Amino acid sequence: MPNHTQADYERFAQENGFQLCDVTPLSLEERVRRLETELSRTDVPYPIDPHKREAYIAAAKSGLPFRTGNLGTESVALGDYECQQHYENYTFEEHLSWACLVAQQEKTKEKFACKEYQNGEKLFEISRGVIPEFYLLNARIYQQTAWQLATVNEIIPTELFFTCHSKRFFPVTTFMRPLGTDYLEEPDIGHDVAGHVATFTISAVANVMKYHGEARNLIYADRDKQIEAVQGDAEAIQQLKATADELLKYAGRIYWFTVEFGLVMEDGKVRDFGAGILSSPGETVYSIGGSESNRILIDPSCDQDLLRLANTDYMISEFQKTYFVMENFDLLESLTPDRILNASKKAMDLPDFTWREIVPGDRVIDVGTAMTSVNEKYHRLMAGQEMDECLTRTAIKNLNLYRDGLSSELLSQFRQMPEEIPSEVTNWFNENQKTSDSPN
Ligand SMILES: [Fe+2]
Repeated sequence: MPNHTQADYERFAQENGFQLCDVTPLSLEERVRRLETELSRTDVPYPIDPHKREAYIAAAKSGLPFRTGNLGTESVALGDYECQQHYENYTFEEHLSWACLVAQQEKTKEKFACKEYQNGEKLFEISRGVIPEFYLLNARIYQQTAWQLATVNEIIPTELFFTCHSKRFFPVTTFMRPLGTDYLEEPDIGHDVAGHVATFTISAVANVMKYHGEARNLIYADRDKQIEAVQGDAEAIQQLKATADELLKYAGRIYWFTVEFGLVMEDGKVRDFGAGILSSPGETVYSIGGSESNRILIDPSCDQDLLRLANTDYMISEFQKTYFVMENFDLLESLTPDRILNASKKAMDLPDFTWREIVPGDRVIDVGTAMTSVNEKYHRLMAGQEMDECLTRTAIKNLNLYRDGLSSELLSQFRQMPEEIPSEVTNWFNENQKTSDSPN
């Protein structure tokens, strides 16, 4: 546990332009009073049903911790991942960590977030000094977008994550990153709330989120139909389940490079809208001006560009090495459930790209210093040299695909045919019979 002194707290507050007295959570009574005022609003796109309002306020008033929003008609079962927000249990240091993060984000977002995101932040001015209380936040989000919060205890499986999205629930954690931390691999409230909430107000982004949920439903409906057809064949059922989850991995990449780490052209400039970027002040600056990463222009309505997203592997342990820049927000609407599903199906059987490379046909805005050549991963694998997990995974997947034979019809759907893998590498690989599970 961090061991900060009062002097540290004062330094953190001073560095971020506020006073420690600003970090004062509201009492339960005051929170309920605000909730009552907010819930009675009728000048909103989704006014709250008076019957639901009474029960909602009663639950908040009784001190019952918030679990999952119940202001709409949908519900979602989170199983073992269900959590609750015990608002009174947050420590002063956790509230201070939130206040510091939001203060730092404000500065970088103002400079680098796109206009639509900044408008969303105005609509959802989240509390600056203290961690938001979920009864009030959930109600405000519902009133503006019909989305609600579902509280979870950790990163949840992709399948459940997209199930929530299909019903307009957004899974949020209750944990706050340690004071003074800029970037975390795992999501916390700083990511889920300070990063994501404003994006719900950008209808193109909210729709893409829901479309991913609907793509999940298509994949699982097809899986279940096929399971019925194989009538209890355990091996076949296991294979069908694995394939469905594999498809979700590719759909997840489209989500990753748009909703989480997407950039967009605005008035001739590259700007951020991805929540993963904007929840990290450091990555916000890096994503636009950093020299390390590639930036590539994308038209999401073009099938070949969509495949570029679905076939790009990535890592979560550090800042991204390639960002995709959407030509404009309107094009995002073209990411319908069917197109997400089709791209995921094709991507599964096509070679992947690593997060560091630039490939034939890319419309390059910036070449980063972290770029590697397309063939480097194969040579490094053969030489037994160290490389990151993304390069290893990609090399092994591709070598297996080429060994087993690739459909030329599928390959032709890339913008340009991928480069041939050097024959010395394929010969070496085929002799060594590496599988996708082999260690580096
Ligand atoms: Fe996220």
